[in-house]
Amino acid sequence: MKLAVLYFSLSGHTKQMAEEIVSGMTEVPGVEAKAFSITDFDASFVQESAAVVLGTPVYMASMAHPMHSFLQTTARQSGIPGKLCGAFATEDYVHGGGEAAIEEILKYCLVMGCLTYSGGGAFGVPIIHLGPVAVSDDLSKYAPTFRTYGTRMAQTAKKLFEQ
Ligand SMILES: Cc1cc2nc3c(=O)[nH]c(=O)nc-3n(C[C@H](O)[C@H](O)[C@H](O)COP(=O)(O)O)c2cc1C
Repeated sequence: MKLAVLYFSLSGHTKQMAEEIVSGMTEVPGVEAKAFSITDFDASFVQESAAVVLGTPVYMASMAHPMHSFLQTTARQSGIPGKLCGAFATEDYVHGGGEAAIEEILKYCLVMGCLTYSGGGAFGVPIIHLGPVAVSDDLSKYAPTFRTYGTRMAQTAKKLFEQ
């Protein structure tokens, strides 16, 4: 089963956390996961993916404008509509807007008819609410949560889509 992580990242934080999610996804047997920038991705891989996770830096307590633009244009032709989706964010400040940015992305996913999954709640610790958020001054502290999120997303995709 293929799973894709699509991110926008100017200074590399969001890309780094996308790679952590991929490493958590690939811990699940039978999963092939890859991370791509929204400006340069393998369209066939995304089309063939059972789930797509979208990541953004927080800009002004919102998703970054390139992710916003991607969701209003390319995403709709990229095979994302109807898939299992999730979202994550990186920010400089605790309460800098990560949860708001995730909520905005998930809202677009709902409009595109996607199933959305937070990675949290039912599985207990680490508790993930809407999706994982990392604060940029210590990304390594958040890496295990992002890997767990990736594993949970992959397990959920397999449960939903594999016979
Ligand atoms: C234009 C701009 C606006 C930003 N606004 C916020 C903000 O509202 N809250 C916050 O915590 N961080 C804010 N940041 C910091 C970024 O969200 C943070 O550094 C992020 O990890 C960058 O991700 P990247 O390295 O993947 O580009 C802002 C950065 C930029 C460039």
